[in-house]
Amino acid sequence: MDRIRVRGGRELRGSVTISGSKNAALPILAASLLVDGPIVLKNVPRLKDIDNMCRILTSLGVRCERQPDGALALEAIDKTKYSAPYDLVRTMRASFVVLGPLWARRGLGRVSYPGGCVLGHRPVDLHLKGLRAIGASIDVRDGYVTASGPVEGGTVYLAGNYGSTVLGTANVVMAAALGKGVTYIEGAALEPEVTDLCHFLNACGAQIDGIGSHLLVIEGVETLRGCEWSVIPDRIEAATYLTCAGMLNAPVSVDAVEPRHMIAVIDRLRAAGLDLEVGRSSITNVPTPDGKLVATDVTTLPYPGFPTDIQAQFMALMARASGVSVITEKVYPERFMHANELARLGARIRREGPSAIIEGTETLSGAPVMASDLRASAGLILAGLVAEGHTDVRRVYHIDRGYERIEQKLQGIGADIERISDG
Ligand code: EPU
Repeated sequence: MDRIRVRGGRELRGSVTISGSKNAALPILAASLLVDGPIVLKNVPRLKDIDNMCRILTSLGVRCERQPDGALALEAIDKTKYSAPYDLVRTMRASFVVLGPLWARRGLGRVSYPGGCVLGHRPVDLHLKGLRAIGASIDVRDGYVTASGPVEGGTVYLAGNYGSTVLGTANVVMAAALGKGVTYIEGAALEPEVTDLCHFLNACGAQIDGIGSHLLVIEGVETLRGCEWSVIPDRIEAATYLTCAGMLNAPVSVDAVEPRHMIAVIDRLRAAGLDLEVGRSSITNVPTPDGKLVATDVTTLPYPGFPTDIQAQFMALMARASGVSVITEKVYPERFMHANELARLGARIRREGPSAIIEGTETLSGAPVMASDLRASAGLILAGLVAEGHTDVRRVYHIDRGYERIEQKLQGIGADIERISDG
């Protein structure tokens, strides 16, 4: 199994080109099940999760091919298949988002019920509530969820105790796009990834109003046709590299980004002492004279709040700040597996319910650590880049799910990072 070794203390400088968003691309890929005719998707990152989704779609009769120019060409060829098997689905929770499209386009959708997850309890009740509200008969048996019956349309409130649901909104929007009537989704997720999906569907002929607001109004249409689409930049990847720049007080910029999607992150990074210059499609970290980081409290929230997917990286930043900061997780209250691993590097972190209290320290020292999830592994790599000595991050398959060419991108700005294969 591979591990990533980082040696701390290198000075970084330069720019990182940000890839297309994994979490925007995944539901758009699933939407190929709804569409008649070819789709060309640009700016789709080359990642394990994308490969997994392509594998699932292929098993469902969608042709899914990378073109020589890097674009992904998709076309639903065989529309008789309706069941996404456990062996493919279990590798990635996001694959549950094929249920709505399968049901809407093929009259029947069957997807393996998602298993447990390291981020904590991750139910799919809101997905099912939404699909039921627009006409689905839902049957859960033998570890599978089946949706059947006509897509009627209807009204549903999709927010739960932790805010709205990103993929749940995507599932319901996609099904409703081909519904007989009108669907009103109240408490819809506002994440840019959801907005991108809605714009994509409209480009295919869907009629979705209120995009970017809490009330989506979807008037069902009979068919959707293929189109060409470019996926939005990955705001989480961009925020990860900016956090990294801040940790090393390095003149590093992120290019090909959409700063409007990063307001909360920019706000908190500035509060932490970073001097960020925000351009139209780039953000630059300007080194400060003393490079001091200020302890800054953060609460993760649904968009436009601070993203949970940057919580681990921000914790690594706070581990080096002067003073005590509190990070509160309001999206996944159990998402703190990285706290113990950061402590192995010398970070001083205490858990209090859904919060972590971090007492900043001047020095971290390298150690072997274990990645628990995708964003946790990014946080550990960042901490390793400022730690003395070297840090080996194990279970790097997590990082390959969501960060395109992370070693090359970090090497490109001067980091000492390598992948070691243990055979
Ligand atoms: N929730 C429910 N019931 C549901 C669905 C969700 O209670 O039916 C709860 C969840 O347990 C959580 C909250 O609602 O407490 C938000 O979950 P959400 O459904 O919005 O998460 P998701 O759509 O499954 C996406 C991203 C995650 C990201 C979250 C939150 C993708 C593929 N995944 O997941 O990304 O953390 O939104 O922003 O888009 C990652 O990329 O590393 C990642 C985990």
